[in-house]
Amino acid sequence: MKKIPIIVTLFILVITAIFITSCATTNELAAAKSGAQLWGENCLRCHNTPSPETFSDTEWDVAVLHMRVRANLTEDEAVKIAEFLKTAN
Ligand code: HEC
Repeated sequence: MKKIPIIVTLFILVITAIFITSCATTNELAAAKSGAQLWGENCLRCHNTPSPETFSDTEWDVAVLHMRVRANLTEDEAVKIAEFLKTAN
């Protein structure tokens, strides 16, 4: 009976380690991704994103700022997506 908590503790530690490692990998990948790729992966999750021509540079700045909160993006990701949208409009 006394062994169960040790096993549970080890299990939690292993899961935590895997979780932390997977987060680190995701962040590295995000840094290597282009704005277009980040846009395709993040902005179609909730809705059909309007095409880049829909909005002006200023309007995209506002929309990306707003969507950054919704999509839970890092600043780097949001900047890359905004840059992509502004070069394609
Ligand atoms: C978590 C869900 C979610 C994600 C991810 C998301 N959006 Fe949205 N988006 C919404 C919702 C909900 C609305 C409508 C309500 C609102 O404006 O908050 C919206 C509205 C919009 C609008 C219309 C706003 C306007 O001014 O009419 C644009 C443009 C837009 N999203 C672009 C994007 C872009 C670009 C991304 C990627 C960075 C993105 N969205 C990611 C949920 C999301």
